[in-house]
Amino acid sequence: MTVGHGLKTVVLISGNGTNLQAIIDAIQAGRLSVGLAGVLSDCPEAYGLERAHAAGIPTTVVDYRNCADRSEFDRKLHDELGTVEPELIVLAGFMRVISDGLTEHYRGRMLNIHPSLLPKYPGLHTYRRVLETDDPYHGSTVHFVTPQLDAGPPIIQYRVRIRDAETEESLAARVQAGEYIIYPRTIEWIAERRLDLRDGTVWLDGQTLQQPVVVDEEYAQPL
Ligand code: GAR
Repeated sequence: MTVGHGLKTVVLISGNGTNLQAIIDAIQAGRLSVGLAGVLSDCPEAYGLERAHAAGIPTTVVDYRNCADRSEFDRKLHDELGTVEPELIVLAGFMRVISDGLTEHYRGRMLNIHPSLLPKYPGLHTYRRVLETDDPYHGSTVHFVTPQLDAGPPIIQYRVRIRDAETEESLAARVQAGEYIIYPRTIEWIAERRLDLRDGTVWLDGQTLQQPVVVDEEYAQPL
């Protein structure tokens, strides 16, 4: 069963799935016009799978631990996605690196959210790393996925000012609250055909986007 109507979308997760939940909530509230055709996890224990079940969304697990090597995992992932033929793939806390072949196949149709103001802090442990510096800001970025990890064209960023006595936990909570705003918003732009990627350039509302849209925490509005 597909939940919602519109652009056929699959969400890839590895863990808690709070971004997935924000997407489900936005669909159920009529604020997001996509059809969620499936949720795929690389890990059978991912709590996000329960969220998908609760919403009635079909789930698939491609357990990386049952794959002999990276190329077997990639092939299974490709095959599973091929059975659905999604128009949009949303990486929401999916912690495996996607193969070049798959990112090329879905170029312009695959989004990721990464917890930093890219190009700063690609990779892991972004909260810890930013707190080790005197950087005044942190945040999260939604970007189109390309073969280069966390380096695809950015679309929108949620930005928070780091407070005195900030901890990894407090910072993560503030940044994630913003992810639940910017990710559904980006997906809706794609569903409304306001946003796309052409020859490596992001277009939004008929204009090229030279810089990502920045949403500051103090001015953030819900979707
Ligand atoms: C999100 O905060 C997302 O930015 C991050 O994982 C979290 C998943 O949370 N993604 C990455 O680190 C990707 N490199 P969720 O499972 O509760 O949505």
